[in-house]
Amino acid sequence: MVPAAGTGVRLGADIPKQYLTLAGLPMIEHTLRALLANDQIRAVVVAVDPADTLIDTLPSATDRRVIIVHGGQERSHSVLAALDTVAELGKSGDWVLVHDAARPCLPRSALDRLIAAARSSNTGSILVSPVDDTLKQVNAEGEVIATVDREAMRRAQTPQMFPLGVLRASIAEALAAHYSVTDEASAMEFAGHPVATVPGPRCNIKVTVAEDVALAEWYLTTTER
Ligand code: CTP
Ligand code: MG
Repeated sequence: MVPAAGTGVRLGADIPKQYLTLAGLPMIEHTLRALLANDQIRAVVVAVDPADTLIDTLPSATDRRVIIVHGGQERSHSVLAALDTVAELGKSGDWVLVHDAARPCLPRSALDRLIAAARSSNTGSILVSPVDDTLKQVNAEGEVIATVDREAMRRAQTPQMFPLGVLRASIAEALAAHYSVTDEASAMEFAGHPVATVPGPRCNIKVTVAEDVALAEWYLTTTER
């Protein structure tokens, strides 16, 4: 499933960021194509804002494997809404993969690695990248308290892949407890399920601010897809 119901406030464009044109196609079209090209993916449920008028204009919107649903106020609500539809399509033991519309540069090889790792882990897996900078913990005044050991730190990417029933229950449980669910792994952690990690490529950036647009475009045109 693809959460695509955000408006891209930090990027600040006049349309939701997932519809900005990158290397000749809307950002989300690249994202959908990366998923649809994989023959292990049976369907792609996309969560969009109820007021979204652009989703139907995408070439991939006519693919019969693509199903559009309405998302919610927060990303986690959008994911949960889409998982209801995913659940109607399959069995609770099926695997579901969640991938942000805002990560259009996912290479085929990374998706294959994630799927293989998740299946062999039995409980699920996420793509992660290393932390390059020295990490500082600060207090409320912004003064450094400590240097955090970055060797033990990872940046979480999407896609993230879990058994459908376990993920749905974990997100519902975490939201009911008002736990901040910023990615699927955080809900799995909250519910006490192990999450395996797989090295994700540097190019798999989340387009968040305006500077990221040119970088994503560069990755889309120069790296192997
Ligand atoms: N998303 C969603 N539903 C929401 C909020 C976000 O489906 N209520 C999606 C976004 O469309 C995006 C992904 O979750 O594909 C990651 O979120 P983020 O990068 O934060 O996108 P936005 O929320 O659109 O950006 P911002 O936070 O800057 O407004
Ligand atoms: Mg957001």
